[in-house]
Amino acid sequence: MNRRDFVKILALSTIATQSYAMEILEKEEKKPIKSKKEVSKMKVVKLQPKDYLKPKGLVGISDEQIEVHFEGHYKGYVAKYNEIQEKLASDFADRSKANQNYSEYRALKVEESFNYMGVILHELYFENLIGGGKGEPSKELKTAIEETFGSVDNCLNEIKATGIACRGWSTLSYDVYNKMLFVNGFDAHNQYGFVGSFPLIVLDVYEHAYYVDQKNKRPPYIDAFFKNLNWDVINQRYERAIKA
Ligand SMILES: [Fe+2]
Repeated sequence: MNRRDFVKILALSTIATQSYAMEILEKEEKKPIKSKKEVSKMKVVKLQPKDYLKPKGLVGISDEQIEVHFEGHYKGYVAKYNEIQEKLASDFADRSKANQNYSEYRALKVEESFNYMGVILHELYFENLIGGGKGEPSKELKTAIEETFGSVDNCLNEIKATGIACRGWSTLSYDVYNKMLFVNGFDAHNQYGFVGSFPLIVLDVYEHAYYVDQKNKRPPYIDAFFKNLNWDVINQRYERAIKA
């Protein structure tokens, strides 16, 4: 092959490559991704902070600790979730550029999950706390706990161990698929939660939940948490869960 032939082949292959690239681009453009006009019709659902859930007068968890946790952290998740909803309903993130490695749309979907789960878990956490605790496990829940863990104390011990082993949350949850109780640990609001789980007891173990009172000591905070459990709320959650 002489130089003239090689250059000719190279030129042809370049044209072929360009043609192939154009074909891919045309196929990409035909993907059924919503237009900006359609996206702008999406409903924006905004959340409101539930101030009535803020507990006061807990044993071993100060009002000052609850105040920064509720006003600073919980309300921060509500605000960011709402901001993300506005962006999802606008042309901020081009759906045609959605990409799993990086894209603005992916960033919104990932952080939507983080902030929404942050809102829900915090509401469940604050709701299951009351100063000095209230009530006791219902007969039905107590039986289910004893069948699963041997005793209520063993169950609480599992929640505590999981709360020390994980970085975000420890929950006693009910699995609506296999109709059973289990303890579920999370490293973040949206990381390691089991699909189909219905949280009954929700323990926040992020440092922001105890740093005002305990600095970096988590176990005494968890012990205090157990002294403030509102079993009336937990029993109601169980009743709803077993009907799900
Ligand atoms: Fe928290």
